[in-house]
Parts: sequence; structure tokens; C-alpha cells
Amino acid sequence: MQKKVFIRTFGCQMNEYDSARTLDLLEAGGGYARTDIMEEADLVLLNTCSVREKAQEKVFSDLGRIRKLRGAKPDLLIGVSGCVASQEGEDIISRAPYVNLVFGPQTLHRLPAMIEAFHRTGEAQIDTRFPEIEKFDHLPPAKVDAPTASVTIMEGCGKFCSYCIVPYTRGREVSRPLADVLTEIAGLTEQGVKEILLLGQNVNAWRGVTASGEKADFALLVEQVAAIPGIERIRYVTSHPREFTHRLLKAYERVPELVSHLYLPAQHGSDRILAAMKRGYTAMEYKSLIRRLRAVRPDLLVSSDFIVGFPGETDEDFEAMMRFIDETDFDNSFSFLYSPRPGTPAASLPMDIPLEVRKERLQRLQAKIDEQTRRHNEAMVGSVERVLVEGRSQKNPAQFQGRTAGNRVVHITVPDDSLVTAGKFADIRITKATRYALAGEPATVRLPA
Ligand code: SAH
Ligand code: SF4
Ligand code: F3S
Repeated sequence: MQKKVFIRTFGCQMNEYDSARTLDLLEAGGGYARTDIMEEADLVLLNTCSVREKAQEKVFSDLGRIRKLRGAKPDLLIGVSGCVASQEGEDIISRAPYVNLVFGPQTLHRLPAMIEAFHRTGEAQIDTRFPEIEKFDHLPPAKVDAPTASVTIMEGCGKFCSYCIVPYTRGREVSRPLADVLTEIAGLTEQGVKEILLLGQNVNAWRGVTASGEKADFALLVEQVAAIPGIERIRYVTSHPREFTHRLLKAYERVPELVSHLYLPAQHGSDRILAAMKRGYTAMEYKSLIRRLRAVRPDLLVSSDFIVGFPGETDEDFEAMMRFIDETDFDNSFSFLYSPRPGTPAASLPMDIPLEVRKERLQRLQAKIDEQTRRHNEAMVGSVERVLVEGRSQKNPAQFQGRTAGNRVVHITVPDDSLVTAGKFADIRITKATRYALAGEPATVRLPA
């Protein structure tokens, strides 16, 4: 009987991408079929995240549970990949000796060889090196069955924000060659993909060369992706305010495929804290960038990440962040309580803010962002939005579900199924807004009475 693999993924979209490619790899050459049921699997992989302590601890509690599956299946293989694997390496085996495979984000392509080596030797296999960008050369073409797909364009991060573990778990910034990225995307459009999400920790630090040997930057990459037949929408996560070039700003004028929704983490709104975080910009510089972007794209929605309770954050710093949020008018964003990460410079700073104060600040900040997001949602009621239809709604199979350019889920009620098609765009009149989603119906031409 064919063996089965189950992967549980934590963390960011780059991890999601890696998990999808690991499944492609194991299906194409590793002799495995994917399953969504962990109990059915012969190989269980946890693709992990260590960006905050909670995420990291979850891995070990999950591992304990997975180990119990060995009772019914003594040959069950257990693997840990991703950023915890990268950070902890052999220590994972010390803490959980029943784990068979440990590999990092840059060595996942070696998984079939590691499985083979484990079977041959009976010894746990560990490989958490950063061998440049070789993994992409050893992965089969990506397979998708949705109209949207992600492509990792660069690995690692060289920014070293003082609180962040990513540069240590993912290695330094390495860009994939332009031609590779374009080929992968062209392959995706042949499978019906219309919307592409470019992935990296700082996509605007991407650098490459064109076919004629000229230097290429992220703005040029975006233009070339837009030129691929079939691509109608381009998004990217994450970009860094410090590397937001004039050329990228100009791309918003020239490239209609770039959606009017930008995910640009600000992290804070107080210059003192931004400096302590080593972000390399001021609140004013961030706001001025958004102002210039909105001059080109008045409907631009901006999402961000925020960290609350960084060591030394005073009431004034927090109020400055709240004002900054008011002035910028953010959309749906993520906010986190600061979590000290071992080995990062900020981890040695004393935590001088009581937990209740930090929690209260987080709550106030989240309420403000929710309020701004709800206002954006409500403003869409009555308007017609171009929606990329993904398929039937998960909640109600009588409805369809899709996404607007601003990345909002729309539940679509159809009087007749032929009015929308999964995988295609449709013009939808928005009839209702809630905090998390919109509802609508196909916008039909209204004839004059
Ligand atoms: N490269 C991206 C973010 C990657 S990590 C950027 O620079 O914007 C995703 C988010 O996790 C960050 O934006 C930050 O808000 C949060 N984060 C990172 N380290 C953290 C820490 N030590 N504690 C709390 N949140 C953290
Ligand atoms: Fe972490 Fe900063 Fe790099 Fe983002 S830019 S991944 S926050 S070090
Ligand atoms: Fe987490 Fe690693 Fe992504 S730490 S956020 S999975 S880069």
C-alpha cells in the first residue's frame, strides 16, 4: 500500500509554501501520497515557527501527542522542519528522542535522501544548513488547483531587527534568479492561476539579473510578472518600509495588476521604540511613504504588524503608536505582545512593563484597528467589487466564495449557478459587511425603467 504523509504547518506563508512544495516533492519522487488525517499517516511532519515563544512551545506539546500514534504504528516516521528545527537542531532530538528527522527551511529538498538514510542506518537524521538557494533547483514544478498561488522569491533576512529571530533561523537574504521565478509563475498560469502572491521576509530587497545581464530589482520583477499572460493580480508579503524605493512607488502607477492593498509592517509608531527595534525609519517617514502611495492609488488599503510591550515602551510611546494608527488609517492588521527570543539583542533588555499593562495596551490597539477595518468594510456596501471566485463557500454550499483586490472574503449569493464560475473573476455588488467578511451578489446590468 502506498505510504502517506501528513504535514502540520505553523508560522508564515513562507512556511506554507515550503509545506506545499514538500508535499509536491514527496508525491513526485518520494513514493508518498498526502493525507489530511494525521492518524492515517506513515510520516508526520511539523513545519514549525519560532517567531514567538508560544509558537515554539506548541511544537513540543504536539510532538508528545504524535508520539502516542506510534503505539498503533511502530514504523511511524516523525520529522520536525522549519524555524524551530533550524534554531534548535540536535537539541530537538535531546528533548524529543523519538523524532527521526530534523531539517531546516533550506534543506527540505533533501528529505527523500534523509528518509532513505534513516531507513539504512536507523539513526536520526539532522540537516539544518543554509546551502544557498539550492533547494529550488531540486523541487518538482509546483502543482496547484486554485486561481491564486504563492511563489517564494527570496529566502532569509538580513535586517536583524533587535527582537526578531528570523535572520537566525532562515539565514541571510538570498534572492532566487529572475528567470526561475518567472518560469515558476508561467507554469502556474498554465494551471489556471490568475493571482500571484510573491513571498519573502523583505521582498523589496530582492535583487537579480535580467536575461541580458542587467541588474534587476523588485520593481522590475513586478513588471515582468505582470507581463506574464494570465496574471491579473499581484500581491506581495512582506516588504520593508526602509527599502520601499521610488521605482516601486512608480510601479503602482504603471502596473494595474498590483492590487491596491499593501502589507507593510510598521511594528510601532514611536520613534524611540522604532530606533530600539532597529527598524531604520521614523513614524514620519512611514506616514510620508503611505501619503505618496495614496497620491497614486487613493483607494490603497494598508495592513501592518504591530508589536506591543517592547522593553522600555512608556505610556507616551504607546499613545504615540495609537495616534500613528489614527493618522495612517490601517486595514486588517496583526498585533502581538512582544516575546523575548533567545539570542536576539532585545532579549537581554529588562522587561519593565507589567503584563496587565501590556495586555491592556494590546487590547486597545486591536480595538482601534478593528474599528478602522470595520469602517473600510462598511464603506464597500453598495459598491461593485471585482472578485476572484475560489469556489463554493465552505460555510454554505449554496453560496460561492471569493476575494476582492483588498483581500476580503466575499460570500456570494447566486440566483443561478451559471452567473459565477470558480477560478474566474466576477463583478459583485456588496450587500453586507461584517468584521471579517463581505456578502454580495452578482452585479447585473440595470436597464432604465
Ligand atoms: N519580515 C517581516 C516580518 C516577519 S515576522 C517584517 O519585517 O515586517 C512576522 C511578525 O512577527 C513581525 O512583523 C512582528 O510583528 C512579529 N514578531 C517578530 N518577532 C517578534 C517578537 N520577538 N515578539 C513579538 N512579535 C514578533
Ligand atoms: Fe525579522 Fe526584521 Fe527581518 Fe522582518 S525585517 S524578518 S522583523 S529581522
Ligand atoms: Fe515563523 Fe520562521 Fe516564518 S520564525 S514567521 S516560520 S520565517
